[in-house]
Amino acid sequence: MTALGVAAGRAIESRRSDGLVDDPYAEAFVVAATPRVRLPSGPNFEAAWTMQSTYIGVRSRFFDLFCAAAAAAGITQVVILAAGLDTRALRLDWPAGSVVYEVDQAGVFEFKNGVLAGCRAGRSAHRVVVPADLREDWPTALLAAGFDPARPSAWLAEGLLPYLPAQAEADLFDRVHQLSVPGSRMAVEHLGPSRAGTAERSQPLSEVLGVDIADLMYLDEREDPGDRLRRYGWDVARVQASEFAQANGRFLNDDGGGLPTRTVLIEATLGSS
Ligand SMILES: C[S@@+](CC[C@H](N)C(=O)[O-])C[C@H]1O[C@@H](n2cnc3c(N)ncnc32)[C@H](O)[C@@H]1O
Repeated sequence: MTALGVAAGRAIESRRSDGLVDDPYAEAFVVAATPRVRLPSGPNFEAAWTMQSTYIGVRSRFFDLFCAAAAAAGITQVVILAAGLDTRALRLDWPAGSVVYEVDQAGVFEFKNGVLAGCRAGRSAHRVVVPADLREDWPTALLAAGFDPARPSAWLAEGLLPYLPAQAEADLFDRVHQLSVPGSRMAVEHLGPSRAGTAERSQPLSEVLGVDIADLMYLDEREDPGDRLRRYGWDVARVQASEFAQANGRFLNDDGGGLPTRTVLIEATLGSS
């Protein structure tokens, strides 16, 4: 359901003439979902959903640019952790020979592949689906699917960390580091310095969406992902989502919860030491 919510945001943003993302598959996922979700209506809902879809557009642009930069640097191996209904493997312009591994729950891929089978295929990388639980030993499944730990890779963690308990998040970064050689890159969406108050802040959005957002997330405190990657020897750059939005002609405000305004977007590269 969270993946579908994000796809809905991308579908809305894709319809804008000045959209920050152009995802020709996003709407097909929303249309195919059953049972249809009955959404509340009214001005609060409109404002919250408009801000959410704007934010999804902003973050999509950030991760799209990250992929383009990684490809330009010669990286042809990409791992999308918690890929959900992400269609970057199909919609971005990848260099020949690129492989995009998508890790998520088996049920998500069942739905996703069914919808994609009915869509016209885009210009694409080789897309490899890896059903696995990201709280468990997912590297074994990734390696079995063909991932080559001797080659530099690009890792995406977009819309993922809040759904992992603190220890699983620590293990995830540890595993990414173990699987990365120098030259590898990582992009991370981080909800900000502290989880304290997330439940209260997300309450208005939960009310208008009819879904308890805080109940979907683990709110235990954990180390800042940028600090963690730096500790592992990665070079880290970070930008507030609101600043990145402004640089792309958009404005993020606190309509519907204030999560987007607190979010930090992180890019990291593992150098040779
Ligand atoms: C908010 S969606 C984001 C999807 C995608 N990254 C995007 O931005 O469109 C969160 C995704 O995390 C996946 N997820 C959450 N916990 C997971 C876990 N323990 N193992 C694998 N996938 C998980 C869900 O199945 C869902 O697809």
